[in-house]
Amino acid sequence: MADKITPLIAGNWKMNGTSASLAEIARLAGLLAAGPPPRCTVLICPPATLLAPLTAIAAPAGILTGGQDCHPRPSGAHTGDIGAPMLADAGARYVILGHSERRADHAEGSELVCSKAAAAIGAGLTPIICVGETEAERRSGDAERVVATQLAASVPGDWGGCGIAVAYEPVWAIGTGLTPTAADIARMHATIRQLLEARFGAAGAGVPILYGGSLKPGNARDILAIENVNGGLVGGASLLANDFHAIISAV
Ligand code: PGA
Repeated sequence: MADKITPLIAGNWKMNGTSASLAEIARLAGLLAAGPPPRCTVLICPPATLLAPLTAIAAPAGILTGGQDCHPRPSGAHTGDIGAPMLADAGARYVILGHSERRADHAEGSELVCSKAAAAIGAGLTPIICVGETEAERRSGDAERVVATQLAASVPGDWGGCGIAVAYEPVWAIGTGLTPTAADIARMHATIRQLLEARFGAAGAGVPILYGGSLKPGNARDILAIENVNGGLVGGASLLANDFHAIISAV
């Protein structure tokens, strides 16, 4: 990992968790307190219903929290949606945007993701902008072109103070137990780094690029050691404190 980038280990609880799950955060806080200080920023992105109560438990333990989506507008007549200032008000510091499940389930395109990212930045949140190819796109040799296109259209031009993070999440690796080879991850992260530097110069060199897709305690050490992998976006393995703590400890 590049020395100057503080690694980020982000848990994405997706549509999982009720108030009973808050015990898992108390357990994670206990595990973190019992060991050496983590060598990374630790982030949990729970469902919006848990953001405020989870932040109340997480914040004193140094665990940051984030949302899983936001609307491009700050407020208004948008039933069922959540504005970025609302996430910030509930304690969020980050928001995941353009996750492949939202791109698939809600037909979100990169232009929409870009406007959501701009809204997040406007509310003082750091967007974690997700990109990644499908299995068919990888098989046809199109993975790098797809990711480059998503990246160019999803990342806003101006992100000043709160910064951004990018998550490379091959769609076929999410929740499947499959992961790309270390060489494939290294190649894609290097491509993303080059594109960020070409567009943003030194600021692009400082953007954390997270790997996501079946990151587990058993593979975290190897994957997190790959050049330009500056942390992880963790789904299933973030739901249990022991597993998530093992990934944090692998940094
Ligand atoms: P996974 O999910 O770790 O369960 O594969 C990753 C993600 O979708 O962020």
